[in-house]
Amino acid sequence: MRILLLGSGGREHALAWKIVASPLCRKLWCAPGNAGIAREAECVALDIADTAQVVAFCKSNNVDFVVVGPEAPLVAGIVDALEAAQIKTFGPTRAAARLEASKGFTKDLCRDHHIPTAAYERFRDATAARRYVRDRGAPIVVKADGLAAGKGVMVAPTPDEATAFIERVMEKKEFGAAGDMVLLEEALEGHELSYIVLTDGQHVLPMAPTQDHKRALDGDHGPNTGGMGAFSIDSLLPSELGASIQHSIVQPTIAGLASESLAYRGFLYFGLMVTAEGPKVLEFNCRMGDPEAQALVMRMDFDLATALLSVAEGKLDPVAAKWNPAASACVVMASGGYPGEFAVGKKIEGLALDGGEAEVFHAGTKREDSICYTCSGRVLAVAAAGRDLSQAMRLAYEAAAKIRFEGVHYRKDIGAKALASPQDAGA
Ligand code: AMP
Ligand code: GLY
Repeated sequence: MRILLLGSGGREHALAWKIVASPLCRKLWCAPGNAGIAREAECVALDIADTAQVVAFCKSNNVDFVVVGPEAPLVAGIVDALEAAQIKTFGPTRAAARLEASKGFTKDLCRDHHIPTAAYERFRDATAARRYVRDRGAPIVVKADGLAAGKGVMVAPTPDEATAFIERVMEKKEFGAAGDMVLLEEALEGHELSYIVLTDGQHVLPMAPTQDHKRALDGDHGPNTGGMGAFSIDSLLPSELGASIQHSIVQPTIAGLASESLAYRGFLYFGLMVTAEGPKVLEFNCRMGDPEAQALVMRMDFDLATALLSVAEGKLDPVAAKWNPAASACVVMASGGYPGEFAVGKKIEGLALDGGEAEVFHAGTKREDSICYTCSGRVLAVAAAGRDLSQAMRLAYEAAAKIRFEGVHYRKDIGAKALASPQDAGA
C-alpha cells in the first residue's frame, strides 16, 4: 500500500517507525514530518491544515491510505474531506473529533450517558467564574474549553492562582478562542492512567495501559505540558480495573457517540483519574497520546498498519493485539523553558551515537546540511523496552544521557513512582 501519514511530532515518528515495518507498507510519505521521520518516510512539505492540498497530493500520488496523527487536522475535518474524495483514511470525522475539540461537549456526553467524571460548571464570563472560585474555594481545576496543546489546564491549589489563570485564559486570551469559555472542575485525587483504544465504532481494541507525566518538573511539580515522558506495564491495569473502565466508561462512550449518530473510528484516548470511587474521565482525545505512542510502539507485537486499516474499513478484530516485551519507558527531551518561552535553533549533538536498544523518536527537530537543530518545545522522545520497568527506564535514560543541546531539560523520574512499588514495576 502507498500510505501517507500526517503530522510532525514524536507520536508521528513512532507511528511511522511502526507502519514502515509492516508488510502492508510499500511506500510511506509523511507530511510535513521532521528530521527523524525522514529516516522512515519521504517527508513532503504539505500544509496539513489545507485539506485541498492534502487531497490533491493523494490523488496525484495514488495514495491508498491516509493515517492522521494529530488532533488539529481531525478537528478541521481532514477525514471528511479525504473520505469525500474516496481516499481511505484512519481517524475520526470532524463531528466525532469534538470529543477533544470541546471539553464542554465531552462533559455533556458524560452527563447524558452517566459516564463518571469530575463535577463541573461552565462559564463564558470571567467575573462569574471568579465569583464561583471565591464561593467554592480551592483546590479547583480551571480548563480552557478548546484546544490548547495540553497547556490550557491548571490544577489550582489556591483561589488566587485559579483567578489569575482565569484571567490569562479568558481576558488575556493566551489560548485564543479556546478560552472563550472555561470549565471549573472539582479536583480529583488518585492516579492518572492513559487508557487508549482503537475502535471502528463497534469493536474496541485496547492498547496496553500507559502513564503520562504531564508536569514539567520532577516530583510532578511545575506547569502542565503536553507530556514529559511515559511508561507502559500491564500491572498499571489490574483486571478488575480494566473491566470497570470498559463497563462504566468505554462502552457507554462508544454507545453514547453512536446514539448521537457519531460513528467513531480511530484512536480514542481516555485520560482517566483512578480515584477511591473508581475510574473517572479527565479528558478525551481523538488521537493517540504523545508521548504514550512512543512508549507503546516499543511493546507492540502486532502489525499496527493492518490494525489501522481495519479500523478505517470498519472491520477491527478486537483480539488482534499482543504486547511484548513486558515494559517500556519514554523520556521527553525538551527545550529549556518549555512549556513557557524557549529558544529554538540549538544544535543537537550525540544523535549519531549508538543508542543501544533505545529508539530516539524526533519531535521538534529539523535538519540543515546534515546537522539537526531544535525547532520546538518537545524535541526528542527517547524510548526503550525491557523485561521490566527498571530495565526499560535504565535503557532510555542511558540513551538520553548521550544526547546534548543547549538548555536541554528532561525529567529524571519517569516511572520512578511505579518502581517504588514493586507490584507496579512489573517485577
Ligand atoms: P486535561 O487536558 O483535561 O486532561 O487536563 C490535563 C491534566 O490536568 C490532567 O492530565 C490532570 O493531570 C490534570 N487534571 C485535569 N482535570 C483534573 C481534575 N478534575 N482533577 C485533578 N486533576 C486534573
Ligand atoms: N500525553 C497526553 C496527550 O497526548 O494528550
